[in-house]
Amino acid sequence: LDNGLALTPPMGWLAWERYRCIVDCETYPNDCVSEQLFRRTADLLVSEGYADVGYEYIIIDDCWLAHERGSDGRLQPDPQRFPSGIKALADYIHSLGLKFGIYEDFGNYTCAGYPGVVGHMKTDAQTFADWEVDYVKLDGCYSEPEDMDTGYPEFGSYLNETGRPMIYSCSWPVYQEFAGIEPNFTALKQYCNLWRNYVDIDDSWEEVEIIMDYFAEKQDSIAEHAGPGHWNDPDMLIIGNYGLSYDQSKVQMAIWAILAAPLLMSTALRDVKPEYKDILQNKAILAINQDELGIQGRRVNNTGLIDIWTRPISPEFDGEYSYAVAFVSRRIDGYPYLKSVTLAEIGLTSACGYEFQDLYSPNTQPQILGPDSVLTVRINPSGVVFYRATIVGAR
Ligand code: GLA
Repeated sequence: LDNGLALTPPMGWLAWERYRCIVDCETYPNDCVSEQLFRRTADLLVSEGYADVGYEYIIIDDCWLAHERGSDGRLQPDPQRFPSGIKALADYIHSLGLKFGIYEDFGNYTCAGYPGVVGHMKTDAQTFADWEVDYVKLDGCYSEPEDMDTGYPEFGSYLNETGRPMIYSCSWPVYQEFAGIEPNFTALKQYCNLWRNYVDIDDSWEEVEIIMDYFAEKQDSIAEHAGPGHWNDPDMLIIGNYGLSYDQSKVQMAIWAILAAPLLMSTALRDVKPEYKDILQNKAILAINQDELGIQGRRVNNTGLIDIWTRPISPEFDGEYSYAVAFVSRRIDGYPYLKSVTLAEIGLTSACGYEFQDLYSPNTQPQILGPDSVLTVRINPSGVVFYRATIVGAR
């Protein structure tokens, strides 16, 4: 969507994976979906250094709404959990230099059963603008996937008419995918800044593998559609939660960087252990995710339970790209196995050669390798080795 926003993949925090639809603030005072949660998270985004490295959006997901619209027909938040109202929350988040996002649904109800935008699209878009929302996630429960080709653009046109710049996150392809409809990516790029392609992430390595495999298997039909202003969205980062080991967390971060994915953390920022925080705040990896060319990477090899992914990045030299290169082990037996490839085999063919820097071991000496050089890598079980390969001559 050409609205001047999301020229690199959006970065921030989204409530859903970690906080779901917790509405019982008595049993879960620190976890319930409430203005306190979002204020506290905004504070932590700043105080824990996430804002400094580029995380910017604090985004509400489902379960913020009251069960009924107001007597004026407008959306209203749950009065117990958001007593100060949404505008006050947005103001607070803006006062910290951050941006504010909200969730709604294209259908009759949100996925958790709160009022959807049907019949009120124009009013709801205006309400979001009045509240100074910066990002809208529009889900697709309780609607017909065939209606999305016209309905999502219609809601987008009302957002546009408000004159307030808002990132527009669509869920239209995932619902069509499951209904057996081939999504129209030309339209998606025109009307949305990002879109969910596939299943909801849960807190497990298995789920990360399912999503990585989907993006690899479908890469010939989806990767080319990513670029500045319009991104494929493999769903939230779950690093810092219960399900991923240290090595598995490095994999998610590396592959989400390769995929030019939105980086929306869904974790209790107060509880993230230092080594996991280092993964989330690894500046060299964030720079790959945010690379200005905006080209989505691909899996280029998956033999012997080792997946190799590459992504063309800047700087370019003599008509050739630099690359991010990730070796992901799908093995879970025992010890770090070795994998050897020549650079030419994985598409790094420039005679200039490449300087390989290991991004998770920044103190190791970079190696200069040419297209015929053999790169031998030792990869931990369900782990990753992740390189920036900068083309020689560009530096
Ligand atoms: C759907 C979406 C999730 C989340 C929930 C909320 O499942 O895909 O990301 O927004 O709804 O109910």
